[in-house]
Amino acid sequence: MSGRLEGKVAVITGTGRGMARQVALRFAAEGASVVGCDIDGEAAEETLQEVRAAGGRMESLHPIDLTDEESAHRLFEFAAEQYGGVDILDNNAMQHRMGAIEDLSLADWQLTMDHTLTLHFLTTKHAIPHLRARGGGSIIFMGSISGSAVGSGYAGNLPINQPYSVAKAGILRLVVALANELAPARIRVNAISPGCVATPLGLAFFGPTGSPVRRVIEDSLLIPELAAPEDIANAALFLASDESTFVTGLDLAVDGGYLAAGGGGLTRPEDVAAYAPKMAEITVVDHWKTSGVRASQPTGGSRS
Ligand SMILES: NC(=O)c1ccc[n+]([C@@H]2O[C@H](COP(=O)([O-])OP(=O)(O)OC[C@H]3O[C@@H](n4cnc5c(N)ncnc54)[C@H](O)[C@@H]3O)[C@@H](O)[C@H]2O)c1
Repeated sequence: MSGRLEGKVAVITGTGRGMARQVALRFAAEGASVVGCDIDGEAAEETLQEVRAAGGRMESLHPIDLTDEESAHRLFEFAAEQYGGVDILDNNAMQHRMGAIEDLSLADWQLTMDHTLTLHFLTTKHAIPHLRARGGGSIIFMGSISGSAVGSGYAGNLPINQPYSVAKAGILRLVVALANELAPARIRVNAISPGCVATPLGLAFFGPTGSPVRRVIEDSLLIPELAAPEDIANAALFLASDESTFVTGLDLAVDGGYLAAGGGGLTRPEDVAAYAPKMAEITVVDHWKTSGVRASQPTGGSRS
């Protein structure tokens, strides 16, 4: 299927590399007029040329620092001048600092909050009048499993990752609040929470196949491999398109089953083996009568 975004104007932030570059390519291939931007002008120009070479329609405003409110405002004025309005905002841009709390300076913390959370407040705030003028639209935020996996696994709980996790938790909360606030304007607001994605940034951290970090990641998943940027672009396409007109306030995890497994990965064969005798004993459980289970259990409500 193609043309799923025909007639739509999509602003995508952070198009210099990684997922946003892939989203730009995908949205343009589906007929959108794309407006990109990045603080890294050279990288943003590369994406612009790549999209155009693939036959896509794209303009880009770069270099631009979206933590500056005037710049965030200008981005949407630029999009409206180029293409006559805005229907979609895909919030991707991000920078962060990692470190244990005692090693982080206030400036490190502030940089992470500014570039991972506040920046998206600014872009969203300045996009909304344009979406209202079109009678509605779709806003997508890039969350992360780090923001929601509060009680399970390494994501969000690595000691060096806490400013990022806190900022992403803020994004996920913002998505729900804005879905409520903007519903009367028919503006849908959703998040995508990737797990671990093979972008240049991701690969620099996760290391090559077989590295200790990659093994920890793979062991935590039901689909034991890194996501491709294309996996995220596919999810963004769904949330941007009219195929999701009844979807708002969602956090769509594209995480290879990390959250579903509580960060514990596939059930281990030795765990299945440990349960095997019990499973052989309880072959059929009648949930209405529970006779199969009760008959083999001691009476008196003992938990031992
Ligand atoms: N890679 C992963 O495994 C992963 C996992 C979960 C969530 N995410 C999230 O997905 C999004 C994209 O991740 P990525 O791996 O593609 O990251 P990336 O670092 O490759 O891309 C981010 C882009 O944002 C740009 N940027 C940074 N600060 C900016 C600013 N102030 N103004 C304008 N542009 C700015 C950067 O120059 C860069 O091109 C991020 O929000 C990230 O937190 C990534």
